[in-house]
Amino acid sequence: MTAIHPGEAYAAQLLAIIQAPGAEAKDQLLASCRPPLANQIWQLPKLPSRPGREDWLREGKPPRRRRGLQHPNSRAQFLHAIWHIEVSAIDLAVLCSLSGAGMPEDFHAEQLRIAREEAAHAALVAARLEALGHPPGRDPVHFRLWEAACACRNLGEHLVVIPRFLEARGLDVNADLLPRILAYDEASHAVLNRIYQDEIGHVASGTRWHHYWCTRQGLQAEEHFRQVIEEHALLRHPSPAPLDHAGRRAAGFSTQELDCLQPSAGGNAP
Ligand SMILES: [Fe+2]
Repeated sequence: MTAIHPGEAYAAQLLAIIQAPGAEAKDQLLASCRPPLANQIWQLPKLPSRPGREDWLREGKPPRRRRGLQHPNSRAQFLHAIWHIEVSAIDLAVLCSLSGAGMPEDFHAEQLRIAREEAAHAALVAARLEALGHPPGRDPVHFRLWEAACACRNLGEHLVVIPRFLEARGLDVNADLLPRILAYDEASHAVLNRIYQDEIGHVASGTRWHHYWCTRQGLQAEEHFRQVIEEHALLRHPSPAPLDHAGRRAAGFSTQELDCLQPSAGGNAP
């Protein structure tokens, strides 16, 4: 019998988490997952076209919210979208670790911790949805975050596209939403505020490890950030909310990076 290299065993564990059906099952596997020791390497396995989900969840076009947050159904639909973003974020943090063969033990420990925080977020939002009579699975969900992550060719691209662009856009949306939802739904506001605070930490972690990765590759981080934004045409969809300057600064964005996200920066913006 051939012994399995410890790095390959870690990669197989991560793939099993991605394939596990739903946030709870993923979190149970994460609870016993330990980061690999420094310098362990592995081959990136073939990724599934869709991460594991409960079989009651339907993929499709999420409903278009036509009414404002003052309407309970509209709030529930919004929270349902956030719930699936949080479930997807578990897979994305695990994929980040999987893409980081040869990175320090601290990097992997941080991704595993983030994945567990995302699972906690998913559980909090799921509880709100139950309380609102609109349980998880009521609306169809999309897999655009997973597809965006799978389009990354290396860890550096993943760190820009996922934590530093898409999750950072989540900060913009949340900062814009928090004061408005408070007037209608204090319990949901408390959950979204907890998510917002934790996500600043997740984006900051993305910034730190992006800088680390660029230094190791001999690249200038701000220039690499700009290039990846352009190559992945990330600005083709206009931001749904104004830039959250305070949150993004706390997460390590530089003036140059913030400038290149402004609509006037051109790039691939329509
Ligand atoms: Fe989250």
